[in-house]
Amino acid sequence: MRLQNAGLLALSNVLLVQAVPRLYTPTTTFSEAETVTPAVVPQTNVTSHGPFTGPPATTTGALSTTVTASSIPALPPAPNSFNYTADGKLHAPQPAPFTPSGGIGTNGSAPVYRVQSDFDYQSLALALYQEWIELDLFHWGLQNFTVEEWEANGINAEERFLIEYMADQEIGHATVISNMLGPQAPKQCTYNYPVSNVREFIDFNQKLTRWGEAGVYGFLPHLNSGPAAQLLLQSITVEARQQLIFRQFGGQFPMPEWHTVGIPQSWAWSLLAPYISSCPSNQTRLVWQNFPALHIINQPNPARINGSDAWNETTGGWANTLSTQNISRSELCLHARNKTLDCAPAISQNRSIPLSYPGRQVFLKWDSPGQLVGPNNSYVTSTTVREPRFAAWVSQLNVTYSPLLNVSTRDNTAYTFQPNASTWDNDPAINGTMFLALTDTNLTVTPYNLTMLNPHVAALAVYQAG
Ligand SMILES: *[C@@H]1O[C@H](CO)[C@@H](O)[C@H](O)[C@H]1NC(C)=O
Ligand SMILES: *[C@@H]1O[C@H](CO)[C@@H](O)[C@H](O)[C@H]1NC(C)=O
Ligand SMILES: *[C@@H]1O[C@H](CO)[C@@H](O)[C@H](O)[C@H]1NC(C)=O
Ligand SMILES: *[C@@H]1O[C@H](CO)[C@@H](O)[C@H](O)[C@H]1NC(C)=O
Ligand SMILES: *[C@@H]1O[C@H](CO)[C@@H](O)[C@H](O)[C@H]1NC(C)=O
Ligand SMILES: *[C@@H]1O[C@H](CO)[C@@H](O)[C@H](O)[C@H]1NC(C)=O
Ligand SMILES: *[C@@H]1O[C@H](CO)[C@@H](O)[C@H](O)[C@H]1NC(C)=O
Ligand SMILES: *[C@@H]1O[C@H](CO)[C@@H](O)[C@H](O)[C@H]1NC(C)=O
Ligand SMILES: *[C@@H]1O[C@H](CO)[C@@H](O)[C@H](O)[C@H]1NC(C)=O
Ligand SMILES: *[C@@H]1O[C@H](CO)[C@@H](O)[C@H](O)[C@H]1NC(C)=O
Ligand SMILES: *[C@@H]1O[C@H](CO)[C@@H](O)[C@H](O)[C@H]1NC(C)=O
Ligand SMILES: *[C@@H]1O[C@H](CO)[C@@H](O)[C@H](O)[C@H]1NC(C)=O
Repeated sequence: MRLQNAGLLALSNVLLVQAVPRLYTPTTTFSEAETVTPAVVPQTNVTSHGPFTGPPATTTGALSTTVTASSIPALPPAPNSFNYTADGKLHAPQPAPFTPSGGIGTNGSAPVYRVQSDFDYQSLALALYQEWIELDLFHWGLQNFTVEEWEANGINAEERFLIEYMADQEIGHATVISNMLGPQAPKQCTYNYPVSNVREFIDFNQKLTRWGEAGVYGFLPHLNSGPAAQLLLQSITVEARQQLIFRQFGGQFPMPEWHTVGIPQSWAWSLLAPYISSCPSNQTRLVWQNFPALHIINQPNPARINGSDAWNETTGGWANTLSTQNISRSELCLHARNKTLDCAPAISQNRSIPLSYPGRQVFLKWDSPGQLVGPNNSYVTSTTVREPRFAAWVSQLNVTYSPLLNVSTRDNTAYTFQPNASTWDNDPAINGTMFLALTDTNLTVTPYNLTMLNPHVAALAVYQAG
């Protein structure tokens, strides 16, 4: 009763609360020694970096078994999809107080945190390859650049500690995924980064973490194992924060979109594999496709004052991360004195000159299939598309097509114009760090069935729209 009265008094009169006698006094908290500390997965500080130089791989290509059809046929919605009456009323008895009927994994069965299908295994194994590269990449950057180089890019010791902490987070992520996969979980590899200075490192990270998070969002709701999805979700939300923080380090607006895009596993693997140089010899292989690289000739360069005014300023196809090589000091936004043009690390930065915009002419070049990529050069890029006809702009909740113009299948070049599309009123669909695929058809796909586009993809890139 006294407690309740205190509450009422607090609501009605703050002064009276002071007259209520104290019900308990805080005491010192005694903390005991931790009892059990679960072990993390074995990892080392990878010391070797650079392109793969070993002998040709004995096993090449994606993991495969009997394949029953060339693609999954499109079908109408599953039966009963429209049965539930969404009217805010309860339509079935409640299994317990305060508990509505329905849901998946809600009947009291103990959750089992392990993969339950090939789909689950291959998806989590892909996510694990991603966590491993991040663990090494963040450490590598901290060791590779001098304090002077970091400071010259406006990233101080406390901020570098944040990068160190983000690397350590990956140990937890790699551990939880390895535990759900079991003993054959992929191990740490060695890597080759398209990075020669701090600014390029930040941009590579901001793009790599974007396909890391988007790659997981694409498969998470399709996993057979709800418990595995739960734990992976609780890692990938941290990855999402990392992506945002790397954008802030690069002086970009932290999140210029209302929804984060999801992509198919084969897209994430296509973007990731080129930066893995070698893995342990008996490493578990993946089933996913490696699409040929798309090169965005005039990929917007966030290191420039006018980021849109960039030609051949990437470090290569697929990720299309920025190169600072041909930018003069006066063109770098890091040094801009004008506050509407600068891009020093900040919680938020507005750019008065947009990186990209509707109607922008985008020049494209793509690789032919058959290229060796990935760990030990043991995967092969492939596509069944003979001639691409559309650019698919994949961002937020949307896939928006623009026709390819001046297509040359001899040079593998074309151009297109950035479409003017919105997700919702006042939310331009095409913004931020997103994806561009060349396709032979403009298939209608939505976030949950984007994978149906794979048989039509000719080449793939990250596009820097904002
Ligand atoms: C890796 O190096 C960092 C310092 O750069 C160190 O703190 C960490 O313990 C090392 N990790 C391993 C597994 O050796
Ligand atoms: C994908 O889903 C949408 C509905 O959200 C449907 O209209 C479309 O036909 C589907 N695409 C394919 C290729 O199945
Ligand atoms: C859904 O509706 C259809 C037709 O109205 C009916 O035949 C079917 O039994 C319903 N299914 C469920 C699970 O209620
Ligand atoms: C509870 O749901 C699981 C699937 O999530 C199912 O396999 C199991 O049979 C269900 N248990 C009972 C008692 O209905
Ligand atoms: C930075 O990494 C590159 C590429 O791996 C290497 O060539 C260079 O020696 C490294 N520099 C330092 C200071 O570690
Ligand atoms: C590779 O072989 C080593 C040594 O036999 C073993 O410990 C490890 O689990 C194997 N890894 C995979 C992925 O099978
Ligand atoms: C992208 O988002 C930023 C931040 O909201 C906004 O200023 C900019 O106008 C957007 N770009 C486009 C092309 O809409
Ligand atoms: C930025 O560069 C683009 C492409 O060259 C050009 O069209 C635009 O006018 C430039 N904007 C400014 C403000 O200089
Ligand atoms: C960019 O590279 C392409 C070929 O890769 C070349 O044709 C073009 O001239 C280059 N443009 C500039 C401005 O360097
Ligand atoms: C800063 O840049 C903006 C956009 O280019 C321009 O409108 C403004 O005049 C500049 N301000 C100064 C003080 O130079
Ligand atoms: C983008 O996605 C939203 C949500 O699915 C949809 O309502 C909207 O029409 C889409 N916009 C375009 C241009 O496709
Ligand atoms: C596909 O392109 C055709 C014209 O080439 C157009 O009529 C149709 O609306 C487009 N569909 C989508 C989903 O973009």
